[in-house]
Amino acid sequence: MKFALILGASGDIGQACARRLASKGWSLYCHYHQNETRVKTLIENLEKKYPRQDFFSLQLDMTDEKRIEAFTAQLFEVDAVIVASGQTIYKLLTDTTSREMDQLWQMMVKTPMLICQKVQEKLARKKGSIVFIGSVYGISGSAMEVLYSTLKGAQHAFVKAYGQESASLDITVNAIAPGAVRTHMNYHWTEEETRQLLSEIPANRMAEADEIAAVVQFLLGEHARYITGTIIPVTGGWKV
Ligand SMILES: NC(=O)c1ccc[n+]([C@@H]2O[C@H](COP(=O)([O-])OP(=O)(O)OC[C@H]3O[C@@H](n4cnc5c(N)ncnc54)[C@H](OP(=O)(O)O)[C@@H]3O)[C@@H](O)[C@H]2O)c1
Repeated sequence: MKFALILGASGDIGQACARRLASKGWSLYCHYHQNETRVKTLIENLEKKYPRQDFFSLQLDMTDEKRIEAFTAQLFEVDAVIVASGQTIYKLLTDTTSREMDQLWQMMVKTPMLICQKVQEKLARKKGSIVFIGSVYGISGSAMEVLYSTLKGAQHAFVKAYGQESASLDITVNAIAPGAVRTHMNYHWTEEETRQLLSEIPANRMAEADEIAAVVQFLLGEHARYITGTIIPVTGGWKV
């Protein structure tokens, strides 16, 4: 049985990854921060559909470094880690506080690195894989999201470097860089803002969360064992 840890399984992309991987026989550790109900409901549904697989819920505030040890101690076998947790802050760099920089760095970069450090041995035993949900903004950058773009770029750099370092352990490390995905991260946009955005995307639509999950599934599969240290844009032709 294969086990994946999904960080941010309470988020829209994390939920899509969980549903898709469960349908392919994976057992899952489903992480959440505040949205316990969403993960519990997901697990109830998955347990009904796939009674032979195991589904666990795990809570962690990824800005709280002290709790990482206890969090990873709950993991038994790990074949894959999917980092689908994240948050953006829309504001000018001049309005961004030092505390926001520290917290977002901790949540989006440092904690995932510490978790990778702690599960490396387990991943190495299972020819494991790590997939970050990065962002096209980590490649192109975006005004009003300077901090977020910087941290997505850092996630991509980690993937490139750690992919090289862990290749001899037979661990693959990759990132998917989505463009705009139809998730609640984007629901606050006005109709006009959405129209403007879609006019810039050659495919003229946002991605569905499951289109990102499908690439995650591919990267965790046998046929992707030679792919490591790469960033795969999934953007409908936008900004690449
Ligand atoms: N949506 C897009 O258009 C888009 C495009 C490119 C890249 N991405 C990236 O894809 C990833 C998933 O995005 P999404 O659209 O699925 O976002 P989402 O629905 O807002 O989910 C965000 C996830 O991050 C978790 N999280 C937030 N703060 C946390 C903290 N302090 N500690 C631990 N977990 C925390 C949330 O947990 P709780 O809900 O339980 O609090 C939730 O599971 C993010 O990294 C995002 O940057 C998204």
